[in-house]
Amino acid sequence: MKKKTKSSALIKTFNAYVKAVQKADLKAMFDTVTKKKKLHFLTACGNVIKSRRGYYEFHRKWFKEKLWKMPVNIIAFHEGEEMGYVIAEFHYKKRLDAGGWYILDSNFTLIFQKEGGKWKVVADICTPIKRLYTEKNPAITYSREQLYALDMLEARRTVHQFKRTPVPREHIMKIIDAARFAPTAGNQQPWKFLVIEDRKRLGVLKKKVAAWYSAPYKGDVRNKKELEEVQRTLRKMLGHVFSAPVYIAVLVDMQVKYPYSTIYDGTLAAANLMIAARTLGYGSGFFTTFFPEDQVRELFHIPRRYKLICFSPIGIPKHWPEAPKKKDLKQLVVMEKF
Ligand SMILES: Cc1cc2nc3c(=O)[nH]c(=O)nc-3n(C[C@H](O)[C@H](O)[C@H](O)COP(=O)(O)O)c2cc1C
Repeated sequence: MKKKTKSSALIKTFNAYVKAVQKADLKAMFDTVTKKKKLHFLTACGNVIKSRRGYYEFHRKWFKEKLWKMPVNIIAFHEGEEMGYVIAEFHYKKRLDAGGWYILDSNFTLIFQKEGGKWKVVADICTPIKRLYTEKNPAITYSREQLYALDMLEARRTVHQFKRTPVPREHIMKIIDAARFAPTAGNQQPWKFLVIEDRKRLGVLKKKVAAWYSAPYKGDVRNKKELEEVQRTLRKMLGHVFSAPVYIAVLVDMQVKYPYSTIYDGTLAAANLMIAARTLGYGSGFFTTFFPEDQVRELFHIPRRYKLICFSPIGIPKHWPEAPKKKDLKQLVVMEKF
């Protein structure tokens, strides 16, 4: 077999392709790409693109981005009569607006075919090596998975209004499964998670709660108009908070070894529950005031030994609420000593 050198026609085409990519020159890049409709592209992020058009669109969008670089090294190549391939690696690095870098390292194989006597790319197969993000200090890195977990904590929101879309039983159980991994005093795990989907019973609770809330106003409010206004606002508010397809009441058993710790045990489980719900795309909440313990206890036959920590709606939000203003990190952190 004739030994090919790096100055072969195939490598020249490959180099032209890489140079065009590095310069974000779409036209020059597509001079090295097949003219035929079919082209297979397996991206380093796991997407499959099956056409020249898709390949073009991918690069058109990408080339609009700024502040990136992508050195390439050839690992191996083979040049046949009609087909050839080049195996290489790229190290993509993009500066992030917030500081730091997005880094994607991947192997890739470009498969070429002869068209009109010239080498043209007909397939581009990426095999990712690593993908990570760095702080401004590049020694501090985060994987995509790490960032995703942190994002879920930040993106959790208290939601008051929901779509009627049902939540599959599997998701409800997955959310509770995540809740039960919360820490507890002496590992006592004092929880019960009461799942409520029955609209009829929820309707009864809503009426009871409305009556319970407006009762004190009745003696207080001087005229009928004022009372009506209070009741209208209450109806609207309750209409919202009772709109979720499912509720989970987080309860704790007070007949355990450390009953004074159950409030922490219950609250930590509720936190896990809300974060798990967010991870699956649901809004939730830590509701106390809208669901008075006595009303809830009576309607759902909750034994006296259990205390209600919170009532958590789970559902697709009607709109994801804006994040309320959170304090700056600096305001909250004290290092070593006050
Ligand atoms: C102990 C506790 C009790 C809460 N009680 C209620 C409640 O009764 N009704 C309600 O709408 N939200 C309640 N919340 C939710 C807070 O209002 C909410 O977390 C806060 O406004 C911040 O919004 P965010 O959860 O979207 O970050 C409660 C939260 C906690 C921790």
